[in-house]
Amino acid sequence: MTVILQVEDLHVSFKTYGGQVKAVRGVSFCLHKGETLAVVGESGCGKSVTSQSIMGLLPAYTSEITNGRILFGGSDLASMDDRSMRKIRGADISMIFQDPMTALNPTMTIGRQMTEGIMEHRKLSKQQAKAKALEMMKLVSIPNAELRMKQYPHEFSGGMRQRIVIAMALVCEPQILIADEPTTALDVTIQAQILELFKDIQKKTGVSIILITHDLGVVASVADRVAVMYAGKIIEEGTKRDIFYRPHHPYTQGLLHSVPRLDDEAKELLPIPGTPPDLFAPPIGCAFASRCPHAMVVCGKLYPGSREVAKGHYADCWLLDERAKVLHR
Ligand SMILES: Nc1ncnc2c1ncn2[C@@H]1O[C@H](COP(=O)(O)OP(=O)(O)OP(=O)(O)O)[C@@H](O)[C@H]1O
Ligand code: SF4
Ligand SMILES: [Mg+2]
Repeated sequence: MTVILQVEDLHVSFKTYGGQVKAVRGVSFCLHKGETLAVVGESGCGKSVTSQSIMGLLPAYTSEITNGRILFGGSDLASMDDRSMRKIRGADISMIFQDPMTALNPTMTIGRQMTEGIMEHRKLSKQQAKAKALEMMKLVSIPNAELRMKQYPHEFSGGMRQRIVIAMALVCEPQILIADEPTTALDVTIQAQILELFKDIQKKTGVSIILITHDLGVVASVADRVAVMYAGKIIEEGTKRDIFYRPHHPYTQGLLHSVPRLDDEAKELLPIPGTPPDLFAPPIGCAFASRCPHAMVVCGKLYPGSREVAKGHYADCWLLDERAKVLHR
């Protein structure tokens, strides 16, 4: 499988009044052509900061990529200047945010916003750009597209607005689409329709998708592979089947337990007890140690590092060390 994006040992920090927040602490993963990689984890674990790093959208004065590379098309996006990054953003790599209203300009018709977006990146006449916009509106199944192009964002329902945002993200035929919680603001039926739309678009265009979510139902529906994040690191990565049926990291196991099952009598969410660590002073060992039911002395002292538990399935946990297995048998 062709690797289209490779993130290597990414570290991102923020300067705040309280000190330096180490938000992303050594994230590595790759994205293959035409696949959907889901990035999951609790609030604050660094999902959005990772995607902002790829898009070159980190706040200019308060953030710093202190280490790592983001390789795309022969360039390192982590060290790219603003001007070059602007050419890639929206054209080769596009992003969809949680709230469609923030991505749309309420003062302009949808048609004008889309046409201007296309003409910013492509040398097309206004007429050609309009035709492209119309094609994209049809791709995301917006009925009466010609008429709808003349309307303003507030004239659309939430689900339709998200379809428009997706259409706008696709107008320049990007190779990568990053969607950060794209369905969280929508009700369940509309959410299912948007997820179907993602699958459909991927089939038609071959775009590679990074889908950020804390909803394992969304992951189950659309992901090929899954990266589980905890306290600024990816602690487990594998295919959807690996993660759902053979989770190896106690945090992933906890996440899966926290989802209610239809056949469960209690039908209650079982949150993982405890809270994630303070990222001003992250632990030197495993960051999950204070919440982990299997923690050993070594866990608080040394980071376990990544181990391959099956082909393409990795987890960072001391339980996977041969010597620990003897103790736990
Ligand atoms: N602009 C910023 N300034 C300071 N700290 C920030 C900034 N943006 C993010 N952080 C911190 O970085 C960490 C990771 O944040 P991030 O937004 O990536 O989390 P997330 O996994 O996307 O969470 P959520 O599920 O709530 O969206 C958090 O501790 C957050 O407080
Ligand atoms: S390394 Fe230790 S504390 Fe961390 S998840 Fe594994 S067993 Fe638990
Ligand atoms: Mg986020």
